[in-house]
Amino acid sequence: MVKLLREGALALLTLDRPEALNALSFAVIRDIGAAIDEAAGWDIRALILTGTGEKAFCAGADIKELVGRSLMDERAGSELGQRVFAKLDSFKVPSIAAINGYAFGGGLELAMACTFRVASSKARVGLPEIKLGLIPGYGGTQRLPRLVGEARAAEIALTGRTIDAEEALAIGLVNRLADGDVVEAAKAFAAEFTGYGLPALALARAAVRRALDVPLDEGLRVEADLSTLAYRTEDAAEGLTAFIEKRKPQFRDK
Ligand code: CAA
Repeated sequence: MVKLLREGALALLTLDRPEALNALSFAVIRDIGAAIDEAAGWDIRALILTGTGEKAFCAGADIKELVGRSLMDERAGSELGQRVFAKLDSFKVPSIAAINGYAFGGGLELAMACTFRVASSKARVGLPEIKLGLIPGYGGTQRLPRLVGEARAAEIALTGRTIDAEEALAIGLVNRLADGDVVEAAKAFAAEFTGYGLPALALARAAVRRALDVPLDEGLRVEADLSTLAYRTEDAAEGLTAFIEKRKPQFRDK
């Protein structure tokens, strides 16, 4: 139900359950976790996630599986989704959700767990759980305010309304819109950063991720620590020397 391919420096993870609009059954969630673990062993510089078909990235949790569960099972299900999606946050290289259509509920939560989001112009996203008498359980209430601010996040979660691609771009929920094929656009986006050194990429990501979790003075200490670490890398020595020598740097991920 999940396909994992390697294309040069990229891993491409595809949710492959088009008959259910790539809905997240618990088996699919486990497959996503296993695929991320497998990709972690590869020598790659970015991970792209997308969905099979023209219609949907992912229509969210499998609603048919949610009926009649015990509270204990429901809690365990929420924790499973959170745990698997958190693997993207801590994944060794940046991830990009290539949102090829609908991304609702758990589907949007999966996209928000990625480092970046690229959407096709026909993408539609939202957190419609409220219409089912539910609220998001795979990280949506926590990651959405970090991306779009508290007021917009509350509006989106409490109204359950559908957001089109242009609005998603305007509010910072997605980074880019794709003119043509969204996976190709995600690859082009990846090419904008995959040429840089992995240590500096990881340190920049770690510093930015702390920004909304800690008070400013603590965040600035984190930045001072991590920027000093970046300065100690061989890539930094190469980057600075290359600038002085007016040539392109040759980063070696060291
Ligand atoms: N779970 C299970 N099956 C789903 C599904 C879901 N989330 N979304 C769609 N499907 C299935 C449909 O049941 C249908 O299957 P059948 O042909 O066997 O009936 C098939 O996918 C195609 O769907 P539709 O016929 O509904 O397609 P549509 O184009 O008319 O509508 C849609 C598309 C607006 C996305 C609609 O399918 C929809 O509203 N889906 C549910 C979206 C949703 O509420 N997601 C949140 C789930 S709860 C959640 O995610 C909780 C959490 O935070 C973890």
